[in-house]
Amino acid sequence: MRVKIAASILSADFAKLAQEIKLAESAGVDLLHIDIMDAHFVPNMTIGPPVVKCIRKETRLPLEAHLMVDKPEWFIEEMAKVGVDILTIHIESTRRPLCLIRRIRELGIKPGISLNPPTKVDKIMRLLDNIDLVLVMTVNPGFGAQRFMLETLPKITAVRRSLFSKGLSSVDIAVDGGVNVDTAPLAVKAGATMLVAGSAIYGSDNVAKAVEDLRKSVEGVWWKP
Ligand code: DX5
Ligand code: ZN
Repeated sequence: MRVKIAASILSADFAKLAQEIKLAESAGVDLLHIDIMDAHFVPNMTIGPPVVKCIRKETRLPLEAHLMVDKPEWFIEEMAKVGVDILTIHIESTRRPLCLIRRIRELGIKPGISLNPPTKVDKIMRLLDNIDLVLVMTVNPGFGAQRFMLETLPKITAVRRSLFSKGLSSVDIAVDGGVNVDTAPLAVKAGATMLVAGSAIYGSDNVAKAVEDLRKSVEGVWWKP
């Protein structure tokens, strides 16, 4: 199985976003990961729908919006309008995840669910039949270039096992935070199928090589049931 690579634009130069996106696109990434932060759910702030709308015009790559916001319900319709392909909400940000997931699906987008490092994996297990992506946070969300928390690896395996037992092999498990050539193989071996990388890609002065190195680091690595 081919592991997908998502470039997180959080570490890109926002003043040159179109060029930065083209770099990732030519490097062969599979999708773009867009971090939406509201300064409430996380102690940082990024961009919202107007910028995503402009990004949509610059690339054909699938867009995944990672909503790190207190009120995900405020952004669902808008994110659909501006053309995201996958919309990921945090389990910690809502009391009615299934309702939001269904709304996302109704709007023709793929729903994803994310969980923070301290959140127990049981919280999302009942949602697995309804989603396309589990985004396992491998750092506390809010900032790029943090250290991958190895203690999150068993959660990836727990989700992968559950998906396997339910026959849900098309659901991706992404890891987000601290992904690099050293940590990517550990995540894939634990059951991840998608690598979200910000600083490992945009922190490099050779984006194409950074993506290639990441791909090579997981060649021949996979989760065994
Ligand atoms: C962190 C974000 C990540 C971030 C990862 O809250 O969700 O997507 O960009 O950055 P790196 O890859 O540098 O850890
Ligand atoms: Zn993210």
